[in-house]
Amino acid sequence: MKLLPYVHPIAAGLSTLLLFYVGSLGLRARNDRRRAAQLLRQHARLTTPVLWLIVISWVGGLLSTWLLRRDLELAASAHIRIGSALLLALFASAVTARRMSQAQIRSIHPWFGIAALLLAAAQVFFGLQITP
Ligand code: HEM
Ligand code: HEM
Repeated sequence: MKLLPYVHPIAAGLSTLLLFYVGSLGLRARNDRRRAAQLLRQHARLTTPVLWLIVISWVGGLLSTWLLRRDLELAASAHIRIGSALLLALFASAVTARRMSQAQIRSIHPWFGIAALLLAAAQVFFGLQITP
């Protein structure tokens, strides 16, 4: 059995789990005012590496399809469209994260984050449909 085509689904799946974890740190900070500062510090520290993991997952998925999955047409799946939308939502989170001192931007940031988490859930669903 060829194992290489499973590398992307497993690695990207783990990255998605980490994304849910760092998103939950941000959301928990809203409900747990006592620990908010600590949770936000952890959230701010971990989100940038996780964003990179998702960028690497996107590139890795494309390479894996191109090099290892001759049975699939490259860049024709719902999985690539949702993956690209996920990256856009995360970039919007990252851009707004740089202006958190402005109240309006601070209130918009979590909505980009929630959009990213919903897209990530859909990404798992559509990824499993093309898993060998
Ligand atoms: C549990 C989560 C995921 C699963 C099960 C999954 C599964 C897959 C599978 C089976 C493929 C075909 C290549 C191969 O067999 O290795 C693929 C391609 C791809 N994946 Fe994922 N993936 C997941 C998460 C992600 C994430 C988080 C991203 C990044 C946003 C991503 C981006 C891509 C891209 C861009 C392709 C190329 C699709 C195409 O050319 O149509 N995937 N994925
Ligand atoms: C690239 C992605 C992201 C980056 C770089 C990022 C960064 C940040 C930063 C720097 C803060 C402010 C921390 C502080 O005040 O000390 C913050 C707050 C927050 N983030 Fe994110 N974040 C990202 C993604 C997400 C995601 C996926 C969610 C999930 C919903 C999310 C939800 C929140 C929430 C709820 C807050 C608190 C807002 C408030 O205090 O009212 N973020 N984030």
